[in-house]
Amino acid sequence: MVQTLLKELESRDFISQGHTIHLAHMISDFGLSLGLNPKALTNLRLLAEFHDIGKVGIPEHILSKVGALTDEERTEIRRHCEIGHRIAMYSPELLNVADWILKHHEYWNGNGYPLGLEGEGIPLECRMFSIVEAYEVMTNDRPYRRAMSHSAALAEINRCSGSQFDPELVKAFLQFTENFAG
Ligand SMILES: [Fe+2]
Repeated sequence: MVQTLLKELESRDFISQGHTIHLAHMISDFGLSLGLNPKALTNLRLLAEFHDIGKVGIPEHILSKVGALTDEERTEIRRHCEIGHRIAMYSPELLNVADWILKHHEYWNGNGYPLGLEGEGIPLECRMFSIVEAYEVMTNDRPYRRAMSHSAALAEINRCSGSQFDPELVKAFLQFTENFAG
């Protein structure tokens, strides 16, 4: 069932397969650099692949909207965390990452969503994920803008250290990317 949902999202072009595959590789390599065990790395790859699965429940005209979103549309899109959580709770293969799917948009300073968790109240895996995803998004072309350079993306991640991102993990990520030839 989960694979079917993912295919559905890919066909609607809201999740690019290249993006999730690259993300899965990178977060797993980052986890390895932090000394995480193979089981943890497998779960991180699952999170990378399925974090936005809840977007299947969001109307297409909102997901594909070009230009600024209204407050109502933003609220609607933010529901993808809870929807994804519910899907994962009912999918044996995603049960391990259900909690992380719920919390993948939280900010270190508490300004994220859906729960407004803060600091180490956010699971480590979600704190890692948000850094790696930001890097991956910034360094790739999007329909509405060109890719940023490696160093510009790292500078932006550094700028958001302590607000959006866990400062210790930002340091570790900067070190990790020094050895990362991607
Ligand atoms: Fe998301």
